Amino acid sequence: MSTVEQHGPSDTDETQPNGKASNGKAQTDEAQHSVPDPGSALNAKRVQMPGYDVYLGPFTQLEAERSRLDQLEWQHFDIKRVGTTIGAEIRGVDIVNDPATEVLDEIRQALYEYKVIFFRDQPLTPEAHIRFAQHFGELETHPFLPGSDTHPELVRFEKGPDTGGYENGWHHDVTWREVPSMGAVLHALQVPASGGDTLFCDMNAAFEGLDPELKAEAESLTAVHDFLRAFRQQVEPGKEAEMREQYPAVEHPVVCTHPVTGKKLLYVNRFFTDFIVGMEAEASFAMLDRLCRQADTLEYQCRFSWEPDSVAFWDNRAVQHYAASDYFPDTRVMERASIVGTRPQ
Ligand code: SIN
Repeated sequence: MSTVEQHGPSDTDETQPNGKASNGKAQTDEAQHSVPDPGSALNAKRVQMPGYDVYLGPFTQLEAERSRLDQLEWQHFDIKRVGTTIGAEIRGVDIVNDPATEVLDEIRQALYEYKVIFFRDQPLTPEAHIRFAQHFGELETHPFLPGSDTHPELVRFEKGPDTGGYENGWHHDVTWREVPSMGAVLHALQVPASGGDTLFCDMNAAFEGLDPELKAEAESLTAVHDFLRAFRQQVEPGKEAEMREQYPAVEHPVVCTHPVTGKKLLYVNRFFTDFIVGMEAEASFAMLDRLCRQADTLEYQCRFSWEPDSVAFWDNRAVQHYAASDYFPDTRVMERASIVGTRPQ
């Protein structure tokens, strides 16, 4: 983020203590009581909070993408945008009973445009869930997370008083794979009385929001991703060497290019990204922490509140996600089908 000059309300406040404007004219009652907007002299520039690597002010760069999204037209369903540049609820489509090819094509297009799409009231059986996800590619099985008893392609997140949710950190799924998933279809089977939302972050917006020097530096870097960071405890005793052989630590660019949209994406996360290649440990940690923190920016995010039979379908290259773990000891049961992707470039 470029540093921009700072102004406070006192820079622009021309009112004198006697209630007269500095040009000597008496003010109306209304003017006397109005407080100047603290941003009125800033011309929509962002300003740094003194002493912190934190900025205030409008994310004007998001406007172009938001307008573009709002001009898109859809033939087979209605769309309601959820976040500024990310997320759309799709209405008027049934994904349980094999949608027609042209509907599936448009769903795929909506996924690329909005990066995560949501459906309500889709009572998917495990078979229908798998069938829907398979329209978009081959499915993965996850070596460390529990599958459903009957369908190993479905990862089951069953949370309750004995477990609690541990997916409350920003991450792309399975970046420790040489070829991480292109996307995931998550179906809500049981939702808590309150909470348990999933948040998504637009990693293209996160990349574009970096200051130019950091952008250029990030684009020159690669990072190592390793399943052991998050899943060491899930590896059966004595099986670590075998799992390591099957899933060696992998290197991915810190900034990837989306294989379909061509957009640049920040591609590091705290769950799986271990270090930046060629950097000292301290510098690598500082860089990763700075880049990972971009996902905390609310303006890049959208948030989805689940109901039973809601479905989220995310583009796992374009977004990171975070499952809010605020419902303990209530129960939350979800099943996820993940679709094989391509090697990040
Ligand atoms: C996940 O991290 O894939 C699970 C997301 C969720 O349970 O909302």
